[in-house]
Amino acid sequence: MVKICCIGAGYVGGPTMAVIAVKCPAIEVVVVDISKPRIDAWNSDKLPIYEPGLDEVVKACRGKNLFFSTDVEKHVAEADIIFVSVNTPTKTRGLGAGKAADLTYWESAARMIADVSKSDKIVVEKSTVPVKTAEAIEKILTHNSKGINYQILSNPEFLAEGTAIEDLFKPDRVLIGGRETPEGRKAVQALKEVYAHWVPEENIITTNLWSAELSKLAANAFLAQRISSVNAMSALCEATGANVSEVSYAIGKDSRIGPKFLNASVGFGGSCFQKDILNLVYICECNGLPEVANYWKQVIKINDYQKSRFVNRVVSSMFNTVSGKKVAILGFAFKKDTGDTRETPAIDVCKGLLGDKAHVSIYDPEVTEDQIQRDLAMNKVSVVWDAYEATKGAHAVCILTEWNQFKELDYQKIFDNMQKPAFIFDGRNVVDAEKLRGIGFIVYSIGKPLDAWLKDMPAIA
Ligand code: NAD
Ligand code: UDX
Repeated sequence: MVKICCIGAGYVGGPTMAVIAVKCPAIEVVVVDISKPRIDAWNSDKLPIYEPGLDEVVKACRGKNLFFSTDVEKHVAEADIIFVSVNTPTKTRGLGAGKAADLTYWESAARMIADVSKSDKIVVEKSTVPVKTAEAIEKILTHNSKGINYQILSNPEFLAEGTAIEDLFKPDRVLIGGRETPEGRKAVQALKEVYAHWVPEENIITTNLWSAELSKLAANAFLAQRISSVNAMSALCEATGANVSEVSYAIGKDSRIGPKFLNASVGFGGSCFQKDILNLVYICECNGLPEVANYWKQVIKINDYQKSRFVNRVVSSMFNTVSGKKVAILGFAFKKDTGDTRETPAIDVCKGLLGDKAHVSIYDPEVTEDQIQRDLAMNKVSVVWDAYEATKGAHAVCILTEWNQFKELDYQKIFDNMQKPAFIFDGRNVVDAEKLRGIGFIVYSIGKPLDAWLKDMPAIA
């Protein structure tokens, strides 16, 4: 029986290993983590992350061929294939602070693998890492090898949160990079055989190590760049009377552009896009490519601009002040169908409104009050468990996550219980603006023609 161990039971390690276990009953999969509360949660009825379809997959194989454990060393020592799926956040201090990836967790995992291994291992980079990381990992492992053979593979993960299970069941592609040596090819083949249990062979791409590592950063940069492009257009649409949804539809009909990932929004969030682009920028700078670095930097600059543009729109529409006014925030997660708030635009928007002394009342169907309070540390906000409670007595509503339930709220009831004039600022273009105007709301939708009220307000920055 092939044994797989995954170091890191997070948003990637947990779902990815659960899917491998459910698709490969003959493989034993153990997910290990240094965080006991995380492992306890994976072994309980309330999993540590909210992801549609995940409960069913975990229930189907947990205790059979899928295990969660804090006994990291034991399971690493026993495994044939070790996935490393630890976090790789942006460095906050020292060389490259604010841009470079912090590989502390990765390095300590690699040193631990070297310490405890007694048999040959395939070590798989599942985390997103800077291009050339495999070379550093190889050095750590081979300098401590005690005669053990290690093969390093890069197998970046492309799942998106909220659709992780779907994405893992039917990936557009699986990417495996390895050394172009007989041992390297053998290791690539071994990992390919795992995925071949459910992924068609033509969708499993094999490349050299550096292409695989760089492709992950490139994919996220391209995806984020599409959003910043459409968000930049949204500002121009508002200035000219064009409608960004119509523009997106029209350009997306060109098969070279394609229709997906062209929704204008209050800004992209999530743990990956910003971190990976900053990392890409840093790598370009380190390689003496400032023009390339500056090109990608713009993607983040536009995202920051979009978030502050939204806050400015709210404040300027409401007579240039929200001081003492209640503003309801519907949605705090960085996208629908997840409880994850890492880099969510809601943090910046709330901080912006709080900076102008608004009273902020937040409702999100999946994010806990604790999490929101941590994200908005030092600021006083109220977190409620119902959209109607959040909006009661409010001067304005800001929709920051595209949860389906926000389309189906009773907006007449919400309007009746709000201060007048009642504003809705839709940062995700989820509501039917015309219908809401019919009720009496002043509605702002990102990138759509402005209400007369908003047009007459002083120009925003
Ligand atoms: P996460 O923070 O949810 O999980 C990482 C886990 O690793 C944590 O539970 C942490 O306790 C554990 N860990 C850290 N060091 C450890 C060690 N030495 N030994 C054992 N456990 C250790 O992170 P995530 O969102 O799952 O992301 C993991 C990696 O995957 C990152 O590099 C990220 O960029 C990449 N990625 C994330 C996504 C996503 O949607 N979240 C998608 C694709 C790729
Ligand atoms: C992303 C990548 O999509 C995934 O392939 C990678 O593995 C991890 O990073 P994720 O961050 O989980 O996944 O979600 P994604 O669906 O990409 O959304 C990221 C952000 O962009 C969200 O805040 C989302 O609301 C926003 N977005 C997405 C838009 O604003 N407009 C769009 O058209 C699409």
